[in-house]
Amino acid sequence: MKSFIFLLVSVTFSFEIDDGKVKGSIIYNRTGNSTGWNFLQISLESIENDEDVFAAAGRFEGEESREEIYNAYRNYVYGLQGGRHFLPKSLQRYVHNQYNWLKEQSQTQNTSYWRMVKYLLIQLENMYEGYNYHYGKTEKALSFDQFYFLSNMGDLQDLWPSVGEVQTQGIGNCNSFYKPGIMAHTTFNVYQTMLRIYKSYNFKLKDKDVVNQHLSFTARPGDLESKDDFFVLWDTQMVVTETSFNNYNKENYEYFHYDSVPCWIRVNIASRLAKNPKEWMDIFGLHRSGTHNNQWVVTDYNKVYMGEEAFFIYKVHDLTNTLLNSQGYVASYNVPLDQEIFDSLKYPNTTSYNDDVRAKQFRMYQGNLRTVREIGRLLRYNKVTDDFDICDGAICPRCDLVNENEYPFGGIDGKVISQDMIKVKKVHLISSPSYQEHQMFNWKAFPNIPHYGMTDKWSFPWYELDETNFTIKELYQDY
Ligand SMILES: *[C@@H]1O[C@H](CO)[C@@H](O)[C@H](O)[C@H]1NC(C)=O
Ligand SMILES: *[C@@H]1O[C@H](CO)[C@@H](O)[C@H](O)[C@H]1NC(C)=O
Ligand SMILES: *[C@@H]1O[C@H](CO)[C@@H](O)[C@H](O)[C@H]1NC(C)=O
Ligand SMILES: *[C@@H]1O[C@H](CO)[C@@H](O)[C@H](O)[C@H]1NC(C)=O
Ligand SMILES: *[C@@H]1O[C@H](CO)[C@@H](O)[C@H](O)[C@H]1NC(C)=O
Repeated sequence: MKSFIFLLVSVTFSFEIDDGKVKGSIIYNRTGNSTGWNFLQISLESIENDEDVFAAAGRFEGEESREEIYNAYRNYVYGLQGGRHFLPKSLQRYVHNQYNWLKEQSQTQNTSYWRMVKYLLIQLENMYEGYNYHYGKTEKALSFDQFYFLSNMGDLQDLWPSVGEVQTQGIGNCNSFYKPGIMAHTTFNVYQTMLRIYKSYNFKLKDKDVVNQHLSFTARPGDLESKDDFFVLWDTQMVVTETSFNNYNKENYEYFHYDSVPCWIRVNIASRLAKNPKEWMDIFGLHRSGTHNNQWVVTDYNKVYMGEEAFFIYKVHDLTNTLLNSQGYVASYNVPLDQEIFDSLKYPNTTSYNDDVRAKQFRMYQGNLRTVREIGRLLRYNKVTDDFDICDGAICPRCDLVNENEYPFGGIDGKVISQDMIKVKKVHLISSPSYQEHQMFNWKAFPNIPHYGMTDKWSFPWYELDETNFTIKELYQDY
């Protein structure tokens, strides 16, 4: 494929493409230093084959976001893999076997499910080619195995501990909150992962089984899934979120089998093919890998479903007439609701779905909150009281501010979308550690921690993104 020869001189650009295989338009705004987000929108239609759309999208993204990808790669390796550029042999073998298995299956089975697998691998491989087209002969060259860390990040989060190694502490926490008409999410992570790209893939595919042509998600450079996770499926007006589980039961790692589909692919397939939350859960549950075990909350503002994974077990609950009805909201904060899941992961009996420290705060604070702004504030709340510590227990932690053992970890963003907004294709976003109750974060406090390609000061406001013309409007500060 011919390459998109752009110099990285302009901050924002867009162009039209019509090369006989695909046509459409592409926008990439490298505004991370001024808004906290880079914004990518790829709107493409296939002329004959859907795979051409995925190939062109990948190629473009790899070329244009190459600098962000290289920085995100280094931030990931130093921030989460302790500086290790290679996986331990046994994990690398697992990842290779799985990748080969995926290729084999997707080349021999012609179903919508496996066609999607094929397309996603094509998108990934083309993104890698695009990246290497510019950097392959420089010191920024990455092997495919290294490049794949970025999309496989969530799955690696469970693979590392299976060989007795943990990544950086506390990586698996987030909040998801649904109150009728409004869905919101915050990601917790090490601040090295704050190099963000909001991705909007609007693909007009010929495949009749594709229900959601247009989906958007809050992601990172080089990463083809959200990983937060926060996806908006515009055609069916669904929102997909999750918060991750911790595993305290080593025996669960025996579940891993390479003949499975990793989480980052399953979430994409379910999001493309599902018409409603129940179908989403059913498709997501196929070919489970047991990596990146999460509590998924998916809504179409009519039904609210929760899907919980614990390696051997997958449980799906329709909460619309149960929990949502009885308490008026559904919150997710990394603690299993289902007892069997809870027991299987061997969660400590110091917590439970009802009595978790964040469960108590959601119950206490949510009562009068009705608006998008109020719910957004709740998810960024980090007031310290006698009961709630600023790091361990706050709804939106700031572990960089504890007095001893401070480390750059906490809630790093916020996303809110109401039913009214999803209808007119708008979403609200913020990217920064919470500065509602505390001073803004500045990398100057951690000069020795690698944070390539990031600005120092993190006090970006909330923005409203309009997907109809892909523009943003500044809204308000975090407080
Ligand atoms: C796969 O199935 C689709 C839809 O049924 C069909 O259009 C396509 O030609 C098939 N592809 C191959 C390689 O058989
Ligand atoms: C939690 O488990 C420990 C050890 O098994 C036990 O001693 C303790 O009583 C339990 N606490 C609760 C609240 O169940
Ligand atoms: C953002 O700021 C960082 C730190 O100053 C710099 O390294 C990076 O090149 C900037 N990114 C862009 C796209 O200007
Ligand atoms: C984008 O579209 C919205 C309406 O959906 C409009 O209010 C806004 O002014 C447009 N922005 C630009 C820059 O055209
Ligand atoms: C992208 O950049 C263009 C041109 O500067 C601007 O009009 C538009 O609002 C930007 N969109 C986003 C989502 O940043």
